[in-house]
Amino acid sequence: MTSPETPELTAGHNLTSLQTFLLSEERKHPHATGSYTMVLSALSLAAKFIAARCRRARLEDVLGGMGAQNVQGEDQQKLDVIANEALVRALGSRKGVAILASEEDDDVIVLREDTSGERPYVVLFDPLDGSSNLDVCGSVGTIFSILQHDRRVADVRDSALQAGVHQVGAGYVLYGPSTVLVMTSGNGVSMFVLDPTIGSFLLVDDDVRIPESGKSYSLNAANVPRAAAGYQHYVQWANEQGYSMRYAGAMVADVHRTLMKGGVFLYPPTAKDPSGKLRLMYEANPMAMIVEQAGGKAYSGLTRTMEVEPTQIHQRVPVILGSSREVDTVLRHLAD
Ligand code: AHG
Ligand code: MN
Ligand code: MN
Repeated sequence: MTSPETPELTAGHNLTSLQTFLLSEERKHPHATGSYTMVLSALSLAAKFIAARCRRARLEDVLGGMGAQNVQGEDQQKLDVIANEALVRALGSRKGVAILASEEDDDVIVLREDTSGERPYVVLFDPLDGSSNLDVCGSVGTIFSILQHDRRVADVRDSALQAGVHQVGAGYVLYGPSTVLVMTSGNGVSMFVLDPTIGSFLLVDDDVRIPESGKSYSLNAANVPRAAAGYQHYVQWANEQGYSMRYAGAMVADVHRTLMKGGVFLYPPTAKDPSGKLRLMYEANPMAMIVEQAGGKAYSGLTRTMEVEPTQIHQRVPVILGSSREVDTVLRHLAD
C-alpha cells in the first residue's frame, strides 16, 4: 500500500525509462561503442519534440500544407518539414551516424565519411507518417530503420540501399491519445509510453507479441475495385467470414492496432501506384522487422518484404503484414 504522497507508479511495472533500457541493453554487448544507444536516444529526443509540436499544431498555426511538393510528388505539410528538421538535427549531432535518408529529402544525406572509432550507422526515416491526418486531429507517426554503415560500397550513398534483413534496429512512434514508441533491435519488440509530466518514455511491455490470428483487415476500401483479383477475392472472403474492417489512413496507427489486436494490414498495388504506395526503405521494411520480431509476417506480393533488394531510396512496394495466419490467408488468395 503506497503512502498518499508516493506518486502512483505504472501499474505492475518497474519504473524503467527508455534510457535505462538502452543502457542495460548496451551492457549486454561488451564491445559496444555506445553509438547505437546514441542513435536511439536521438530518435527519442526528436520524438518528444515532434509530439509536443503535433499537440500544439493548430495553436501555433503550423497545420496545413507548405505549398510545395516533396520528391514523392505529395503536398508537404508544414509539420512534415518541422519533424524532418528535428530528426536531422538530433541525429546529425551524433558522431556514430554516417548517413541519413528521409522521405522528405530527395537524396540521402551523407553526414560524415570519417567515422573512425565509431560503429557507424545509417538511419532512414519517415518523419511524419499519415501527415494528412493532422488537420483533422487524427493519429500520425514517425517510422525509423537502422542499418550498419557499409564502408565497402564504392558510392557511400549506396550504403543506405541494404535489404531489410540487414536492419539492426527499427521502430515507430505513434502520436495518438498517448505517445507510444515501439522498437526492436533484433531480439523481440519493446513498447514505451511517453509520460509527458516527466518527459520520459517508460517501458510498458518488453516482449510484445502479435496475436497469431485476428478477424480484422485494414486497407483503403476505395482501392479494392482497382486492385488485382487476388486482393478482391481475399476481401470478399473476409467479408463472408464476418471480418471487421478498420482503417486509420496512417500506416503507423493501422500497424499498431494490428500488432496489438491481430489481423492484417494491406496496401495493394493500385492503378495510381502500380508498385504500391508505401515506401520500402522507411515504411515497409521497419514495420516488417517489428511485425516479424513480434511473431507475425510481412510480404510484398509473394516476396517476403525484408528480402526485397532495394534499387532506389524511395522505391515503393505492396504491403501485406500482420498475424501469421492472416497473412497466409491473403497469400493463398494471391497465389490462386
Ligand atoms: P505519409 O504521410 O508519410 O506520406 O504516409 C501516408 C501513407 C501511410 O501512412 C498510409 O498507410 C497511406 O499513406 C494511406 O494512403 P491512402 O490515403 O491512399 O489510403
Ligand atoms: Mn508514411
Ligand atoms: Mn511521411
